[in-house]
Order: sequence, then C-alpha cells, then structure tokens
Amino acid sequence: MSEEELLHQLRVHGAVPQHVAVIMDGNGRWARGRSLPRPLGHHAGMKSVREVVAGCLDAGIEVLTLFAFSQENWQRPPQEIEALMSLLEEYIASESAELRERGVRVRVLGDRDRLTGSARDAVARVEASTEAGQALALNLCISYSSRGEIARAARLLAEDVAAGLLRPDQIDEEALAQRLHTAAWPDPDLLIRTSGEMRISNFLLWQLAYAELYVTPVLWPDFTRKHLFEAVLEFQRRERRFGRVTA
Ligand code: FPP
Repeated sequence: MSEEELLHQLRVHGAVPQHVAVIMDGNGRWARGRSLPRPLGHHAGMKSVREVVAGCLDAGIEVLTLFAFSQENWQRPPQEIEALMSLLEEYIASESAELRERGVRVRVLGDRDRLTGSARDAVARVEASTEAGQALALNLCISYSSRGEIARAARLLAEDVAAGLLRPDQIDEEALAQRLHTAAWPDPDLLIRTSGEMRISNFLLWQLAYAELYVTPVLWPDFTRKHLFEAVLEFQRRERRFGRVTA
C-alpha cells in the first residue's frame, strides 16, 4: 500500500494515538552494513527524524517523543559522542525555521547540564523559537535516563515535603508524574522500537505503563513515514483494556 493509501486507511480506521514515543535504534548496524563509520549512520538517521515529524503532522498525532541520546550513551567513544552532539546542532540549525512554520514545539528532556555549551545554546534557541507551536509537541530525549528522571522526581517531592509545601500523605501517582520531565503531556499510547531489539532501555519507564509496544526489524535510518503509518494501523487494531475486561 502506498503512503497516501495508508494515511487514508488510518484516518478512516479510528483514533490515532495522541502520543507516540520512539526508540530510534540501528544506526550503527545500518552504517556497518555499508562499511561506513557509525557517525554516518546517525547522520542518515536524521532523515528519519524528519520523516516521522512530517508523518505525525499528517496523521494528527499530537506528541512525539524521540530517544536521541541516553545517559548510558556518554560511555560511547568520544568521536561518536562529538558526532551526535554536532548532529543535534545541525538538526536544530537546519530545521528550526520549518518546525516553527509547521507549528512544532520542540522541547529537550534530560540532563542538559552535560551538553556542550554550544549544544545547550542551540537547544535553548530552538525551544524559544518554537514555543508557540500548537500542531505537534516534539520532545527530544537527550542525556536522558528514565530511572534518573524518577529519582529526580522523588528528590523534588522530598524537597517540597522538607519545605513544608507538601505532606507525605499527599504523595501519590499524580504528584510524582507532575515532577517528571513529561508532566505537560499525556503518557505515550504507542512505543515504536526499530531494529528488532525487545528492550525498553531505561526509556520512559513510568510513562509507558499502558503503552502498546511495536517493534520493527527496520533499522532507524530506513524508517519512513510509511513505516510510521503501518505502526499506527497496527495500534488501531489492538484492543487496549488498561487492566479491565473486554467491554
Ligand atoms: C541508536 O543507534 C541511536 C542513537 C544512539 C542515536 C539516535 C540519534 C539520531 C537518530 C540522530 C539524529 C537525531 C536528532 C534529534 C538530532 P545505535 O548506534 O545504538 O545503533 P546499533 O544498535 O545498530 O549500534
């Protein structure tokens, strides 16, 4: 089926997920398969980021959260880290204007203190310039760890209790969720992982509680709008029960 046919199918089929999260995996394998250095795999992966952003806008998906760089990724070779950081700057420089025009609001989630000064500045610029975007919230998880995020939320709760702003009996799921980086958005409905690995890899552990999981063997640099639409169609075929019985 063509891209346009798939888009038509998912529009008539039912509700699209409000929030899609993606673990963009397989850049290294894509590069190895072509005897190229790993950073070229990441560079090729940037095209797929453009594809899924365009696809979400076409399909009416409201929130897209991409896992671009984990806390664990700081252990990769320095050249690869440098390449990923400059790719982030390149993405921001080349896409900011179009993202703003298309109503995409960009936010970076994670420990931004570890970024280089110029990457931090680029992030601040794109967040400010796209602030008014209403069509799609694009969250880039960079230097992100889900356990780290949950531990941070616990620390913030403890600080509020110590300051007398909160009583321990007021700590509930909502209070914790409000202190996660994702507080402004509903939880992901659909998690896509490329390149076939069956893992969550310390990504949105709290927020994915009821997400539908979709793993595709396609390597991230080969992932297109069409693959996104296929994942959404599969999502629409699933029955989500949230722990209840079938209606
Ligand atoms: C995982 O592939 C991918 C990453 C660690 C980086 C993802 C980054 C991009 C797609 C670059 C562009 C994104 C933005 C937003 C600028 P891997 O290297 O772990 O692949 P492998 O498992 O095949 O080795």
